[in-house]
Amino acid sequence: MRTAGATIGALAAVGALGVGYAAGIEVRSFTLRRVEIECLPRGHRPIRVLHLSDLHMTPSQHRKQRWLRSLADLAPDLVVDTGDNLAHRRSVPVVLDALGELLNVPGVFVFGSNDYFAPTLRNPARYLFGDSSQWRTPTPRLPADDLRAAMVERGWLDLTNTSGTLEVAGTQIAFAGVDDPHLDYDDLSTVPPAPVDADLRVGVTHAPYLRVLDRFADDGYDVTFAGHTHGGQLCLPVKGALVTNCDLEPARAKGLHRHPAASAPGDPGSSWLHVSAGAGTSPYAPVRFCCRPEATLATLVPVREVGVRAPLRAVA
Ligand SMILES: [Fe+2]
Repeated sequence: MRTAGATIGALAAVGALGVGYAAGIEVRSFTLRRVEIECLPRGHRPIRVLHLSDLHMTPSQHRKQRWLRSLADLAPDLVVDTGDNLAHRRSVPVVLDALGELLNVPGVFVFGSNDYFAPTLRNPARYLFGDSSQWRTPTPRLPADDLRAAMVERGWLDLTNTSGTLEVAGTQIAFAGVDDPHLDYDDLSTVPPAPVDADLRVGVTHAPYLRVLDRFADDGYDVTFAGHTHGGQLCLPVKGALVTNCDLEPARAKGLHRHPAASAPGDPGSSWLHVSAGAGTSPYAPVRFCCRPEATLATLVPVREVGVRAPLRAVA
């Protein structure tokens, strides 16, 4: 009996340590992940893409703001922001100030549910068991339109259910984006077939729902950037993510993967998918475990061999 009590006490202590680490240390251990994506035509110079997602910024998160401001030192050629920037009605100027010099870099963006609606207390158990319906319950609106106007004013391309082009480092890039699929705001009829005269075709979405990834891949987009999953947020050592908060399987909750077109399901070399684990969490669930908050520097490089599909390359 005494042994059982000691065991329960030890487990409780380990659990308390784990929660303390997840809430007090890892959730604020911001990191930069680097990947290399072979997707450019031969002869094009590499393009450094800073992928930001899921900042979930509140005015009091000064450490996160300093870290975000420091990312401008990377001197990226392009910023891709896949949404969920806000977690407070007064966060728009805070996010803009923290983005700082990055707003002088060419950028594209879409929004997520946490740009439109304020966070609220949820039941984390329902999340872990795959029930995300409570996340769709409307809460007070956030000033997403103010953030959108400021980003557009600084020259960033708004890809909310629309498409556009940018020339970045001498490469003509065709973009298409959708509004947040997690809220069923996506309008796939606005996604045009990937322009064949562009050097690179990029899809952008907040939540990586399969219907959106399939559409981009089937329509010939080379790379899709997404966020939303928080990388699973609470992960297990070795196994990794348990959930993605959408219909993407947990094995692709973060990082660089392939997403074959439905027309070529066995093609290992079809469209790339990069999912950011994001830099924040809901302020009501400020915990991360085995899934540090991140930004990604994705270096786009030319495909190395003609006729040979590029292998998956992930660095650090
Ligand atoms: Fe998020």
